Amino acid sequence: MDTTVEQLYGSKVRKYFEVHNVVYKILTLETTEETKSMELVLHILEEVHKFGLDRRTEPIIAIGGGVCLDSVGLAAASLYRRRTPYIRVPTTLLSYVDASVGAKNGVNFCNCKNKLGTYTPPIATFLDRSFIQTIPRRHISNGLGEILKMAIMKHKGLFELLEKHGKYLLDTKFQSRNGLACHGDAALTTTRLAIQTMLEELAPNLWEDDLDRLVDYGHIISPELEMKVLPSLMHGEAVNIDMAFMTYVSHDIGLITSEEKNRMVQCMRNLELPVWHKGCSLQLIKKALAERFKHSGGKLRLPLPTGLGTAGMS
Ligand SMILES: NC(=O)c1ccc[n+]([C@@H]2O[C@H](COP(=O)([O-])OP(=O)(O)OC[C@H]3O[C@@H](n4cnc5c(N)ncnc54)[C@H](O)[C@@H]3O)[C@@H](O)[C@H]2O)c1
Repeated sequence: MDTTVEQLYGSKVRKYFEVHNVVYKILTLETTEETKSMELVLHILEEVHKFGLDRRTEPIIAIGGGVCLDSVGLAAASLYRRRTPYIRVPTTLLSYVDASVGAKNGVNFCNCKNKLGTYTPPIATFLDRSFIQTIPRRHISNGLGEILKMAIMKHKGLFELLEKHGKYLLDTKFQSRNGLACHGDAALTTTRLAIQTMLEELAPNLWEDDLDRLVDYGHIISPELEMKVLPSLMHGEAVNIDMAFMTYVSHDIGLITSEEKNRMVQCMRNLELPVWHKGCSLQLIKKALAERFKHSGGKLRLPLPTGLGTAGMS
């Protein structure tokens, strides 16, 4: 469990386990992008070993943001006795809509983002939006970056929801409230649509054999950028800068109209996401594109918007 989550929710979680007569041990972890490494994974493995876990009947439960889910996932899913069942409990908006879905886990290595990892799905993911009420506003924006990715690529209705309710969702931290009819249950609808569109993209291609992935939108330049300027940009912020850049590319090559481009960039701004960073130099962009080329079968395979909620590969 992430240390901040432990401080906020540890006593509730303990009570829950005790009521259900669960034999458990909570291991608290400093999970940040800087600590997301094999050292952290080895530390988790040592503790799991000391606990004497029976992998046939006792799952490991990861409770925290994306860094916690990814690191525990790698330790449990693939390394401890080759495979140990694990459950994801995402506690940030970004991990709720993105790291909760799919099979991937991984840690940073040699200053490269998620360079070591595997594709091993959890046995379950438990979604509880109430955790999100304690995350800072900037972290809500961070998660909105990944929701916006799915909206621009696949779902015009989701994009319009973000245009209309984005500020409200930021203000209310994705908690469902009664009495504000004009917003309906925007938190529930938005997160459902985001996860559903994410599942539609990931499920048929869990092992990423097909390299043409729309979910890579925002993930071409951002890995390079995020690691270079660490810790100044959060994951979803770096993703958004990449998306903003690619939106301009799309417009320049005639795939989207000026109005569509402006609506996309305006929506990013309304969600309080950065659209540029001084570390995003031409040199960095070229390096990131060269990496992409190398790992994508000799093609760039850029997912680019072709409208609001539609996309193609270029
Ligand atoms: N495996 C995947 O498919 C996948 C998908 C998307 C992102 N990721 C990874 O997820 C990571 C980013 O995840 P993140 O944005 O959740 O960041 P994070 O895990 O670093 O968490 C951010 C901060 O939020 C705090 N926190 C967590 N839950 C909280 C709560 N309920 N209340 C208050 N504070 C809380 C944590 O202590 C931490 O400091 C990146 O490393 C990215 O690579 C993985």
